[in-house]
Amino acid sequence: MAKVNSLILSRAESHVDMVPELARYLIESGGKRLRPMLTVASAQLFGGGTGSAINFAAAVEFMHNATLLHDDVVDESDMRRGKPAARMVWGNKASILVGDFLLGQAFMMMVETGDIAALGVLSSASAVMAEGEVFQLAKTGDLTTTPAEYAEVIRAKTAVLFQAACEVGAMSGGADAAGRQALARYGLELGNAFQLVDDVLDYGGQAGELGKNTGDDLREGKMTLPIILALAEGSEAEKASIAKALGDAEASSEQVAEVVAIMERYGALSRTLEQAHAHARSAQQALNILPSSDMRALLSDVVEFSVLRAY
Ligand code: IPE
Ligand code: IPE
Ligand code: MG
Ligand code: MG
Repeated sequence: MAKVNSLILSRAESHVDMVPELARYLIESGGKRLRPMLTVASAQLFGGGTGSAINFAAAVEFMHNATLLHDDVVDESDMRRGKPAARMVWGNKASILVGDFLLGQAFMMMVETGDIAALGVLSSASAVMAEGEVFQLAKTGDLTTTPAEYAEVIRAKTAVLFQAACEVGAMSGGADAAGRQALARYGLELGNAFQLVDDVLDYGGQAGELGKNTGDDLREGKMTLPIILALAEGSEAEKASIAKALGDAEASSEQVAEVVAIMERYGALSRTLEQAHAHARSAQQALNILPSSDMRALLSDVVEFSVLRAY
């Protein structure tokens, strides 16, 4: 991970000063580095973990960081990684453009490995992630959004990158077809669990710990599972108060609290967490075909961490 971090910092360089200034601001604010860690661990699981795995890990984090820069513009979010979002400092235009730069650099690092098959996995993930964000945008404020549509949004915008991070790690580590498939499934299920938990934390988490504001999903009109479940069960009056706050950027903290109270009345947050647990169990099961090892135990711990952070 030290190698990955220094590659990340060196590839954020540019002769155009604003590029490294903005990119380093985001990169040095931390972040969990979960996806590149998954790539390295997935490679080490099969005896690799140096060489191309380092490039793929840095590329995966750049893809993720590019998405965060773009996502905060789209979501009009003010906070990221415990600090004002880059767009609050440099503006939306610079955030979009530096996101594009990071995406370009990500592809450069992939190309340098010469591994066309892995490049295919990550390119496809990049396209699917954008599709997921667009699908979510199209569903904004749509009270008829179904749980299946939500599942498709989170698969595309989040889980597919986790899947690709693990899959290319396994590939670069020398996994056979079954090993590659196991890691792909592990990543996909972990990613689904991770986003379900993120969506619960937006209603029940602590902004200080998350490094981003809570209640934003409601104010943005984002149709996450807790909202979908509450709308399905609530009375007409409860549905009306959800609909009133949903998508209202000025909704008060009292309005958000009222929506959370409705969610709690119908167990919408705990049922969302149950779905996260089900995906977490599938992620663990995917690892079962592999011989036990330190890295397998680590990947298993990542699943626990991702779900337990909601408590
Ligand atoms: C944030 O991902 C975006 C989601 C998929 C919810 P992370 O929570 O992994 O963000 P960082 O990298 O740790 O900041
Ligand atoms: C996360 O979506 C997926 C991305 C592609 C960034 P969110 O909009 O829920 O992520 P946060 O809450 O802003 O981190
Ligand atoms: Mg967002
Ligand atoms: Mg979120």
